[in-house]
Amino acid sequence: MEVRLQKFLADAGVASRRKAEELILAGKVSVNGTVVTTLGTKVDDKTDEVSYNGKKVVPNTHFVYVMLHKPEGYVTTVKDQFDRPTVMDLVKKIPERIVPVGRLDYDTSGLLLLTNDGDLTYHLTHPKHKIEKVYLAKVFGRPDENAVNQFKWGVMIDGRRTEPAKLEILEDLGKYTMCRITITEGRNRQVRKMCEAVKHPVATLKRVATGDVALGDLAKGKYRFLTEEEVRSLKNS
Ligand code: URA
Repeated sequence: MEVRLQKFLADAGVASRRKAEELILAGKVSVNGTVVTTLGTKVDDKTDEVSYNGKKVVPNTHFVYVMLHKPEGYVTTVKDQFDRPTVMDLVKKIPERIVPVGRLDYDTSGLLLLTNDGDLTYHLTHPKHKIEKVYLAKVFGRPDENAVNQFKWGVMIDGRRTEPAKLEILEDLGKYTMCRITITEGRNRQVRKMCEAVKHPVATLKRVATGDVALGDLAKGKYRFLTEEEVRSLKNS
């Protein structure tokens, strides 16, 4: 079957479709021995030989979908330039070349998906799909109605308004308030910046759901495979 080169690379788990486009433009991909820098080049997934960084790319035979309860103190990259622990250290036993779907900050804990299904990664991380991500945030002070409304309208961060978001008050903890925050984008440190912008900085942050898939009682530092039902719901989200 003929597929676009960036989709071939994404399906093979090399990178997300967007990242694969960058790799192609950077001249890191060749087809049958010739470097290809044109996006959209079609390849036959059975007969063409695609290489990335000089190594043959083998299409996936089966996809794996993993949920990790990321602890604080881990970076969400495959390799860290400062040699800090990475989330990959926690899923070492999985032989497939899985990569994190999006990112959680070093100091954020909670639900992180990892997969070798580039299409699903693309689907879940593209802002146009507006997949809901739910966080428990312990914030300083007590957000009032005005803060709740600002989230509803979208908050200005880095000179650009966010999509409408939800801020729900769960519990008064005295100096802090426990909140549930729902966003549909994945901008850099988005929740922390939004809370900062409404003058209630985050003390601790944990992601508890992506779409209909919830972290539940999975222990910190542990992972599990998603159920078929969970995979289906993510694909349809
Ligand atoms: N928003 C943040 O500020 N940090 C995360 O890790 C995720 C969302």
